[in-house]
Amino acid sequence: MASIVSNLSSTISRLTLLRKPSLQFTIRNLQNFNRHRQFGTPTPHFLHNSNNHATPHFSSSPKPQSTSALGQDEELIVLGIETSCDDTAAAVVRSNGEILSQVVSSQADLLVKYGGVSPKMAEGAHSLVIDQVVQEALDKAKITEEDLSAVAVTIGPGLGLCLRVGVRKARKIAGTYALPIVGVHHMEAHALVARLVERELQFPFMALLISGGHNLLILARDIGHYIQLGTSIDDAIGEAYDKTAKWLGLDLSKSGGPALEQLALEGNQDSFKFKVPMKQHKDCNFSYAGLKTQVRLAIESKNIDATIPIASTSSEDRRVRADIAASFQRVAVLHLEDKCQRAIGWGLKIEPSIKHLVASGGVASNKYVRSRLYNMVEKNGLQLVCPPPSLCTDNGVMIAWTGIEHFRMGRYDTPPPACEPDDALVDIRPRWPLGEEYAEGRSEARSLKTARIHPSLTSQIQASLEKQPL
Ligand code: KG4
Ligand code: ZN
Repeated sequence: MASIVSNLSSTISRLTLLRKPSLQFTIRNLQNFNRHRQFGTPTPHFLHNSNNHATPHFSSSPKPQSTSALGQDEELIVLGIETSCDDTAAAVVRSNGEILSQVVSSQADLLVKYGGVSPKMAEGAHSLVIDQVVQEALDKAKITEEDLSAVAVTIGPGLGLCLRVGVRKARKIAGTYALPIVGVHHMEAHALVARLVERELQFPFMALLISGGHNLLILARDIGHYIQLGTSIDDAIGEAYDKTAKWLGLDLSKSGGPALEQLALEGNQDSFKFKVPMKQHKDCNFSYAGLKTQVRLAIESKNIDATIPIASTSSEDRRVRADIAASFQRVAVLHLEDKCQRAIGWGLKIEPSIKHLVASGGVASNKYVRSRLYNMVEKNGLQLVCPPPSLCTDNGVMIAWTGIEHFRMGRYDTPPPACEPDDALVDIRPRWPLGEEYAEGRSEARSLKTARIHPSLTSQIQASLEKQPL
């Protein structure tokens, strides 16, 4: 493991650990810097292309201390920008946990109109609204860029074209106003936002992250330090919700998940006997491709015509659609429960002091999912922490908050050049693992492509810490 970490770390790193005698010193310096804009010549190391491996930029610095989620400094004000998928989001958050503003512009209308969103279309939609979304976030917070301490932005994982829109915007602001910038891992942000919500949430904890593109089961040991217990080997649960909703002719204007959750309330969850995925695999990985196929076949066998919206169909047809929705949801969530149950066993073996399991990501805003997980987690003597729905689905608050958490550890990049050309190479990481895989949990069912995967966030941070003097 250590050798993997050091090999990976020698390839690339985005993190600069600035000389930092203490946290207070950094913050005081920053305030001073904010007033006088005297950071000196910035190091443009955030410009590395993800395929363009470069020498790491680490300066020696004392080992950062892990801090509790809230408290000690009330001074930072961070703008968070998120464009990794199909929502353009921005928010302003204070380091004491106060959310000053939160703005989300959704591309759901494109989804409804075209039945899906291509990366190029999504990029166009982000570009169209990004300036407005960020401005609105600043206006609602009643601040200007001058008042910011730093800018945080998602740099991966996600769609490259989309990530680029947010990163460019963040760099423009950071360059113009000489602000430090924090590149954020989207899935880490889904997990860490729980620490903004639940002040008691200390490391180590477990997290189930369930969204449109990823299913992850992780053990969070510290900020930037995760063990990956399980991941999706094909489709994530959100994708299965979205496709099922589409095939059932549901209104996708608020994305498929919420529409399916609603319809499932009317249905009989035992009417279709779908098989729970991966029962025979004694691991913590997820697979939803097979369940999707089972659902599609059931829909075809009942001659459901998705071009007839659910609102205009017969009551009998509506009942069948609701039964399929409820049966799908039951099995989709049973799969989550199975894998969580095993992961809790593994997690407690590694870290017996774990007390919490965080459920976050868009699908964790689902009430049925939350209540099933709540019971399962309680039975295991742990406590479930679920952020409110608006913080489970993609948002700028989680990015700003994760920026704050890393900033406090001294992990941020110096400001980019004030007049960076639009075609400058920027560091984006479309495929970027969060943690190192739990060795005992490796399974033959894994078929993940490894080509062009970036070193994990955890391996980079651990390698940088190993390089620092004690
Ligand atoms: O985390 P998220 O907002 O974006 C990604 O990172 O992918 O998750 C989006 C996913 C979509 O698949 C959406 O349908 C699903 O979360 N989702 C839900 C619900 N709300 C959002 N799935 C089930 N029930 C919901 N209430
Ligand atoms: Zn997400």
